Amino acid sequence: MPSILQCIDCGKQYPIDRVIYDCESCGGLLDVRHDFHESAAELTQEFFDNRLGALEVPYNSGVWRFKELIYPGIDDERIVSRAEGNTNLYHLPRLASYIGVDTLYLKHEGENPTGSFKDRGMTTGVTQARILGMDRVACASTGNTSASMASYAARASIQGIVFLQNQQIALGKLAQGIAYGATCLQINADFDRNMALVREVAERLRIYILNSVNPFRLEGQKSIMFEALQQLRWQVPDWIVVPGGNLGNSSAFGKGLMEMLDLGLIDRMPRLAIIQAEGANPLYRHFASGFKDFQAVEARTIATAIKIGNPVNLQKAIRTLEWTSGVVEQVSDQQIMDAKAIVDGVGIGCEPASACSVAGAKKLVEKGVISPGDTVVGILTGHVLKDPEATMGYHANNLASIDPAFQNATLQAEDDLRQIVELLKDRTVTGLPHI
Ligand code: F0G
Repeated sequence: MPSILQCIDCGKQYPIDRVIYDCESCGGLLDVRHDFHESAAELTQEFFDNRLGALEVPYNSGVWRFKELIYPGIDDERIVSRAEGNTNLYHLPRLASYIGVDTLYLKHEGENPTGSFKDRGMTTGVTQARILGMDRVACASTGNTSASMASYAARASIQGIVFLQNQQIALGKLAQGIAYGATCLQINADFDRNMALVREVAERLRIYILNSVNPFRLEGQKSIMFEALQQLRWQVPDWIVVPGGNLGNSSAFGKGLMEMLDLGLIDRMPRLAIIQAEGANPLYRHFASGFKDFQAVEARTIATAIKIGNPVNLQKAIRTLEWTSGVVEQVSDQQIMDAKAIVDGVGIGCEPASACSVAGAKKLVEKGVISPGDTVVGILTGHVLKDPEATMGYHANNLASIDPAFQNATLQAEDDLRQIVELLKDRTVTGLPHI
C-alpha cells in the first residue's frame, strides 16, 4: 500500500499528493503514514548500519540513510538533499557531572548544512514541494526554518518566501534567508500571528507551506531519533531532552520512536523531556494543569528561536508525551544563558534555545525526575554562530535582566608589550567554569 495522509484525531485518510495540512472533517493534524508491513523483515539494525559511510546521494544523508522509514518508494532523483544529518553525538562526562548524571550525550543538530535541525525536515518538505509541482514555498519563522527553507528551495529552483517578525530575529538567521535568495518579508507581528498570516496567504496564492504543520517536515525530523539510536548502537537511553517551541521536533520524535519500536529496531521507549522558556511556556502550563483547557501565551524570551506562544503541533506533542511517559519543564532566560555559556565553554557551542536541553536536564535532576544513574541524550538544535548578539551581550554583561555567571570578558590593551605581558602573566584560566 502506498503512503497516505491520515488525521491523528478522526483517522480520515487523504492521498499523499493532496496539498492539505489539517483534516477537512475535524481540523486535526495529519500524519504521513507508511505501510512498513511488507518490508518489515528487511528493515533491521544491520540494514541501516550497512549504509553508514555511504558516498552516493541520497544515502550519504543522515535522513535518507533511513529512506524506507522516511519516504519509501520515492524516486532517488527527485530528492532535494544537502547530505544533511550525520551530526555528532558528543559523549560529555564533564558536562554530565555539571548536570548531575553519570552519562550525558549531546547530539548537535547545529552541525547541519544551514546550522540547525530544520534541514532534516526541509529535505523532505522541499522534496514533496517538488513532487507536487509547487513553484513557491513559504513559512513563518523565528529564523532557522526560514534559513533552511531558503537554502533548500534555492537548491530546487523554487522560490522561498519567509514571514519574519520585524524585531528580534537573530542576525545569522536573517542573513542566511537573504543570502539564499528567499523573499524576506519582515512583518510587524509576532511568530504566532505570522503563522496565521502565512496560512491565509498560502491558501490564496497557492503557495506550499513548509512550517512543521506540514507533516512531511516531521518525517525528516524523525531521523534525529533514528540516527541518535544508531549512534548509541541501538541501546535506548533513559531520557531524550529537547527544547520545545512550535513542537515539531517533539512530535517527530514520538512518531519516529514509535515506528522504531513497532519495527523492533528498539526494545523500549525512552522518556522524553520537552523544555520551554519560562516566558514562552504554553505546553508547560498545559502539562502542569493536567491538559485542561489550553491557553496560548504572549511569548517573551531571549531564546528567540522558541519565542512561540501558540504551538501548531500541540496535539502531536501531547501524543508524544503519552507514548514516552514524557514530562515538560520550564527554564528561565538566566538558566538558558548560563547553560549556553557552559556548552560553549566546553568547545561545542550552541544558540540560546538549544541550551534549554542542558538547563532543563539539570533542573530535572535537581527535582529528582531524572535520576543520577540515568543516561541522558540532549538535543542541541542550533549552531553557536546563529545568534552572535546574544553571545556577545552575555559576555559583555549588557543583556537586560541577565547576570552572567560564566562571563568571558574580552580584554583590551594598548600596543604595549609590557602591558600585554602584565595582563596575561597570571591568567591561566578563563572566566569559564572548569567543570
Ligand atoms: N531550537 C531552535 C534552534 C529552533 O530554531 C527551534 C524552532 C526550536 C528549537 C524549537 O523547535 O518548533 O520543533 O519545537 N524554530 C522555528 C523556526 C520555530 O522558525 O526556526 P520546535
